[in-house]
Amino acid sequence: MARIPAPQGLPIVGNTLQIPSDAPVEHFVKLASRYDEGIFQLEIAGRRVIMVYDPDLVAEVCDESRFVKRIRPPLTIVRDFGGDGLFTADHDEPVWGHAHRILMPAFSQRSMKAYYPQFLEVAEQLVASWAARQGEDLPVADDMTRLTLDTISLTGFGYRFNSFDSPELHPFLQAMGGALTEAMHRNQQLPFVTKLKKKSEEGYRRDIGTMQALVDEVIKQRRAEGGGGGAKDLLGLMLEASDPQSGARLSDENIRDQVLTFLIAGHETTSGLLSFALYNLLREPHILARAYEEVDRLLPGDEPPTYETIMKLDVIPRILEETLRFWSPIPLFGVSALQDTMIGDYLIPRNQGVGVLLPPLHRSAKAWERPEEFDIDRWLPENKKGHHPGAYKPFGNGERACIGRQFALTEARLALALILRRFALSDPNVYRMKIKQTLTLKPDGFTLRVRERRAHE
Ligand code: HEM
Repeated sequence: MARIPAPQGLPIVGNTLQIPSDAPVEHFVKLASRYDEGIFQLEIAGRRVIMVYDPDLVAEVCDESRFVKRIRPPLTIVRDFGGDGLFTADHDEPVWGHAHRILMPAFSQRSMKAYYPQFLEVAEQLVASWAARQGEDLPVADDMTRLTLDTISLTGFGYRFNSFDSPELHPFLQAMGGALTEAMHRNQQLPFVTKLKKKSEEGYRRDIGTMQALVDEVIKQRRAEGGGGGAKDLLGLMLEASDPQSGARLSDENIRDQVLTFLIAGHETTSGLLSFALYNLLREPHILARAYEEVDRLLPGDEPPTYETIMKLDVIPRILEETLRFWSPIPLFGVSALQDTMIGDYLIPRNQGVGVLLPPLHRSAKAWERPEEFDIDRWLPENKKGHHPGAYKPFGNGERACIGRQFALTEARLALALILRRFALSDPNVYRMKIKQTLTLKPDGFTLRVRERRAHE
């Protein structure tokens, strides 16, 4: 049995004070570059945390007969507002299964086709907004957030944020940013420190209140329109459908948790994906040229593309897959051991939490040829077959993997296709990557400029 490598900590506080509270993942990635074993452990706020990023070890912790998702910090903190919504429900809570089975049909490929008109409506708003701001520095992550928030709220709940009408981000987003950042800070505080920070507590509760007020408004509006009314969107299903297995319906409180969960999980990550994808395209002119060639071939003219056309894209989806390898918006997810178990030569005791650390996993030389190269041809079907089974986990693992994967990828394909069909992109400020972390990752302060590629009336 081997000893899990660990950086030296201090008595009582362990490694807690070594981890910068606004960039913990960056710190973990630095540690990963120090430990070639693909595993290390830390003592954070009184807890022992094990990180793995060796593809063989990751494949082992992704074995669902030995490891399951348990709600551990920071997710215990996110539960303050996510409640027992899908993301933050514990494995053993029956409500996870009820909601999962009720909502699965809303994420089938058939449902993506049904949502397509709304995807298109919001993506066209983004393009119109950029067309009106040619030559300006466009705040990429903010605009991608407008796009993805408006898309999930319109398709999921029939609710319009109309984010492109306002130069300010919606108060919901400001509250969410505040709450997610505070959750990240709390993850590294000893509980008594959190209790002492009265001002942070007030701000945190205020932010949660702002988000919950919006959710209540969304549900109230739908009930005023006659409840589900047969609507097959997420809210319609939650209000009307019952679990096909147990017959259970979701409680009002759970519906509230789910709506807030989807409003957050359904936009924050896709916004990061699109922002990183645009960043990569600006750095890889030959790939940008291939993407232009594809949209010019498949989407000639100005007509709105059909769902079928968007499904025919091939270069753009591969850009998205490679972007998720290079920059995973969710950089870490956690599982716990069901029993004492060995992974490789290391003993993982029962109930021990293990974090799968995606940045070093996705760039592991053991699994990827030329890992630092942005190469979309890795995702050609013939090359995909050879990928290591543990090497790529941007959407998490197994039963608890992302339910919104197809939703995110369909929405992102369409948005990129419409942007590239219409605009030439440039980066006159020569942006240098700076990551902002609020539980998810985004490029901080990234701007770009656009100009029309073809003359429009
Ligand atoms: C779960 C990533 C988009 C809803 C997850 C997990 C990851 C992830 C890594 C697993 C977390 C864990 O194990 O703790 C992503 C990425 C996205 C994305 C990278 C975009 C590129 C979406 C969208 C939606 C969504 C668009 C909704 C429309 C959820 C939900 C869960 C989840 C509800 C919890 C599932 C469960 O445990 O039953 N996502 N996600 N995500 N995601 Fe996503």
